[in-house]
Amino acid sequence: MANTPIKLNDNTTIPLLAFGTGTALYGTDAEHLVTAAINAGFTHLDGAQAYKNEDSLGAGIVAAGKARKQLFVTTKLAKQPEDKSVRDSLVESLAKLQVDYVDLFLIHTPIYYQEPGRLKAVWRQVEAIKKEGLARSIGVSNFRPAQLREILDGAEFPPSVNQIEFHPYVYNDLLPTLELQKQYGIVTESYGGLSPIFRFKGGPLDPVLTSIANRLSETTGKPFNEAEVLFLWQREKGVVIVTTTTKESRLAGYLSILDAPKLTDDEINLIDEAGAKEHHRHFVRVTILED
Ligand SMILES: NC(=O)c1ccc[n+]([C@@H]2O[C@H](COP(=O)([O-])OP(=O)(O)OC[C@H]3O[C@@H](n4cnc5c(N)ncnc54)[C@H](OP(=O)(O)O)[C@@H]3O)[C@@H](O)[C@H]2O)c1
Repeated sequence: MANTPIKLNDNTTIPLLAFGTGTALYGTDAEHLVTAAINAGFTHLDGAQAYKNEDSLGAGIVAAGKARKQLFVTTKLAKQPEDKSVRDSLVESLAKLQVDYVDLFLIHTPIYYQEPGRLKAVWRQVEAIKKEGLARSIGVSNFRPAQLREILDGAEFPPSVNQIEFHPYVYNDLLPTLELQKQYGIVTESYGGLSPIFRFKGGPLDPVLTSIANRLSETTGKPFNEAEVLFLWQREKGVVIVTTTTKESRLAGYLSILDAPKLTDDEINLIDEAGAKEHHRHFVRVTILED
């Protein structure tokens, strides 16, 4: 399977693997790594107003010198004061990113908009941005079924994606969200997908991932590690993978999964079963957990 883009419910497409400028790069100058990621083969860049480095994401894009239409650029809406329009906020982001439009614009988290009616009102403003063409596609992040239902009710456009923490230790908990998303063709973007190997190391997944990495290394003759196995599991679940690194040396390994063979059904089941033995969620502050 090559780097086939995934279709979105608004007839656009999204590349399978994204380089993100949050988490390890939060608040840092990401220019050099963004340029390195694009030069290595990443076409999908995931930024956010809240990461406080959109200007360096923009500088990295410019330095790489790739045609705008060959790149897929995402940003996300940070907490807005009520008297500032979502459009004004996005226009500031576009200037920092040095682009005329983003490919994807997301509401970063519903946590910011818990007053009655506010989430729906913000979504209406996001829909207007799509109509104007400042964002090709629109979506949400960290939404559970309750918040998805709230904006789907009467929406002109359903969100095209929901970007959420996604790995085997939260997979079971996500099933109701994934089921609802299926009904509306909402694609999942994963973040935190490598959490089992460095945020929750020592759990039941460890030996399973190592054994699958060894199997892949033997059958392909190329080295595979546990991170790449987790990416392949995400690919099998049909999600868009958003990851990052502070180390240029990891970029080629990340990209190698685009051409890697499929996991077997048995391997997917073993990962699902090991993940279901424990529940771990790292990014609790951005998600309203009670539905
Ligand atoms: N929407 C949201 O609320 C939200 C929340 C979180 C993240 N995100 C987005 O998703 C992006 C990625 O998030 P994430 O950092 O949580 O993704 P992740 O894919 O779970 O983790 C990436 C980290 O994994 C480490 N890593 C890679 N290979 C490894 C290995 N073999 N062994 C040990 N560690 C390894 C890297 O460390 P090194 O730096 O040392 O290479 C890197 O910093 C963010 O940058 C952001 O764009 C969005």
